Amino acid sequence: MKIIKKPYKLTARIKAIKKNGKTVGFVPTMGSLHEGHISLIKKARKENEIVVLSIFVNPTQFGPKEDYKKYPRNFSRDKAIAKKAGVDIVFAPSAENMYPEGVSTCVEETNLSKILEGAIRPGHFKGVTTVVLKLFNIVQPDISYFGQKDYQQAVIIKKMVKDLNLDTNIKVLPTVREKDSLALSSRNIYLNQEERKSATILCHSLTSAKKLIENGLTNTEEVKKKIRTMIKKEKISGIDYIEIRELETLQPVKKITGKVVILLAVRIGKVRLLDNMIIK
Ligand code: PAJ
Repeated sequence: MKIIKKPYKLTARIKAIKKNGKTVGFVPTMGSLHEGHISLIKKARKENEIVVLSIFVNPTQFGPKEDYKKYPRNFSRDKAIAKKAGVDIVFAPSAENMYPEGVSTCVEETNLSKILEGAIRPGHFKGVTTVVLKLFNIVQPDISYFGQKDYQQAVIIKKMVKDLNLDTNIKVLPTVREKDSLALSSRNIYLNQEERKSATILCHSLTSAKKLIENGLTNTEEVKKKIRTMIKKEKISGIDYIEIRELETLQPVKKITGKVVILLAVRIGKVRLLDNMIIK
């Protein structure tokens, strides 16, 4: 497994790989790897000749009051996990390499980026689309792999690829969960024992809502109310949103007649947790 830190070095290597006609699968991450990331790497390993993993805690997607400095980093552990999962190249640039002084160009999706997570974290998705576009340009992937865990992020990336005619396929893979069904996240380590227990309410309330809908409840306001009541029974610090949206446009749905996604953002202690479920 090769570790590359400089963007121009990776570009040169990718050029050589492509000259030999090999396909490149790409998994962008911020490191602190867990089974969710590993599932993306393994899928990329199955479907491509070369697998590139990026590990970069992207400063531009963190707000001024967010945890950029505190975000968990453990490069030697990540390297070992990446190697075991079958990564060929780890791209781990420094912030200076990605954003040299004077950089003044960014890319912004201007519609879906403003709602849900975007309304609570202004500028977050501009940082995400800018870094992902830069990574796509450096890595030139045939297929890029994202997790359903960050549902809105995946929708926005797919929209950027379509709107800007980018030449990469996007695959979105299911959320990997703990045994008690909490969605894996690098931020789960911040939860204390009691908070960790309460955190399972996100997935459990989604599963209950799914059952209610399958049993004929179609009024989204009523479904949302039931979810809110379930979540409020736990010791939480706040609910940022409970939303039921159309899959691609993320527009609100009044009556459930087809596929929808339920999106949750809940604060437990000081940790913000996201989860979602697609209802077919
Ligand atoms: P990060 O949070 O490290 O996540 C990297 C990828 O792993 C994302 O596509 C995310 O959706 C996926 N992922 C996270 N938890 C998962 C889980 N439990 N099951 C399945 N997949 C999961 O998302 C980012 O980094 C950044 O915004 C990035 C796209 C790298 C841009 O900086």
